[in-house]
Amino acid sequence: MTSSIYSPAADRYENGMKYRRCGRSGILLPEISLGLWHNFGDLNSFANSQAMAHYAFDHGITHFDLANNYGPSNGSAEETFGQIMKKSFLSHRDELFISTKAGHYMWPGPYGEWGSRKNLMASLEQSLKRMNLDYVDIFYSHRYDPDTPLEETLQTLVDIVRQGKALYVGISKYPKEAAKYAFRYLEERNVHCLLYQGRYNLLNQEPEKSGILKQVQKNGTGFIAFSPLAQGLLTDRYINGIPADSRMAQGNTLKEDVLTPHLLQKLKRLNELAQQRGQTLAEMSLAWLLKDELVTSVIVGASSVGQLADNLKAIENTHFSDEELKAIDN
Ligand SMILES: NC(=O)c1ccc[n+]([C@@H]2O[C@H](COP(=O)([O-])OP(=O)(O)OC[C@H]3O[C@@H](n4cnc5c(N)ncnc54)[C@H](OP(=O)(O)O)[C@@H]3O)[C@@H](O)[C@H]2O)c1
Repeated sequence: MTSSIYSPAADRYENGMKYRRCGRSGILLPEISLGLWHNFGDLNSFANSQAMAHYAFDHGITHFDLANNYGPSNGSAEETFGQIMKKSFLSHRDELFISTKAGHYMWPGPYGEWGSRKNLMASLEQSLKRMNLDYVDIFYSHRYDPDTPLEETLQTLVDIVRQGKALYVGISKYPKEAAKYAFRYLEERNVHCLLYQGRYNLLNQEPEKSGILKQVQKNGTGFIAFSPLAQGLLTDRYINGIPADSRMAQGNTLKEDVLTPHLLQKLKRLNELAQQRGQTLAEMSLAWLLKDELVTSVIVGASSVGQLADNLKAIENTHFSDEELKAIDN
C-alpha cells in the first residue's frame, strides 16, 4: 500500500482558530496548541499520532510542544514528530512554531538532566537531529535547577539564541523569584523571555494564586498552560469509572488514587455545569482558561482525533457569567 501525500486543508486559517499575541513580542500563537508528551512515543500507533498532527495543522494549530524526554521511550516523541516533519510538514516549516525543552532526566550519568550548559547544549543538538530540524522556534529550560548557578543555565539560553539554534527561549515551572531573576538576566542580554510554561487548570489555580501570571504579564512574557485538562480528569473520561485505554489505567503519570470520591463528586458537578453551557467538560475546562487574556495558549494532549476535535470547540464560547464562575469555584 502506498501512503498518500499529505496536503493541508486550504482553509486552515479560516476555520475558527483564533490567535493571541504572546506577551510583548511579534509572535501570535493559536489559542489551542498540541502537546506531544503522551501518545506520540514509539509505543503508540504512528498512524494515530500522524492523524492527530495533521488534524491539528488542518485546523489552525501552528504550535507543537515537545521536550527531549517525551515518549515513552525518551526521545521517541521527537522522533515521531521528525518523521511527520519529513513526510508532511517540511514545506510548511515556516508556518509552524515548534518547541523543545531540556532539564528532566534524559540519559544516564551526571550530564543527562538539570540545568548545566553541558546538558542543555547536548540535549538540544540531539533534539534537532531527532526532529529533522535546523532550529526550534522556542527552547525551554524545562525546570528550575536549585544546584546549578542560574546564570549558567540562562547564559546557555542566550548563547543558543545567538547560535541560531532557537529563535526564542522560555522557562517552565520556575518558582516566582527564580523567574523574576531569569526575566531580568535575559532582558539585559537582549534575549526576551517569550514564554513561561506552567501547569494551570480548574483543579490547580496556582499560577493565579502565586502571582506568577501577573509577574509574567509585567515582563511582557506570554503564559502557556500545560495539562489544562489535568491529564484527562477535567473531561468526561472518568465520570463512570476508569476506561481501560485511559491514561489513568496506564498508571504512569496519572495514578488512580487521585480520583477520590470527593474529586469525583466535583467532576460530576462540573460536568453538569458544562452541559448547562452546552459544552463538554473538556470544552468548558479549556474555555475557563481562555477566558483570561493573560493566558496566551493552552497546550492540550489528546489520544485521538475525536478528542482533539472536541477540544477545538472550546474556543467557540469562552465567556462565563458571574454566576457560572461562582458555581465553578464552589
Ligand atoms: N512543561 C512541563 O513540565 C509539562 C508537563 C506536562 C505537560 N506539558 C505539556 O502539556 C501538554 C499537555 O499535557 P497533558 O497531556 O497532561 O494535557 P491534558 O490536556 O491535561 O490531558 C490530556 C489527556 O486528557 C484526555 N483528553 C483530552 N481531550 C479529551 C477530550 N476531549 N475528552 C476526553 N478526554 C480527553 C486524554 O487522555 P487519555 O489518554 O486517557 O485518552 C489526553 O491524553 C503535554 O503534551 C506537554 O506538551 C508540559
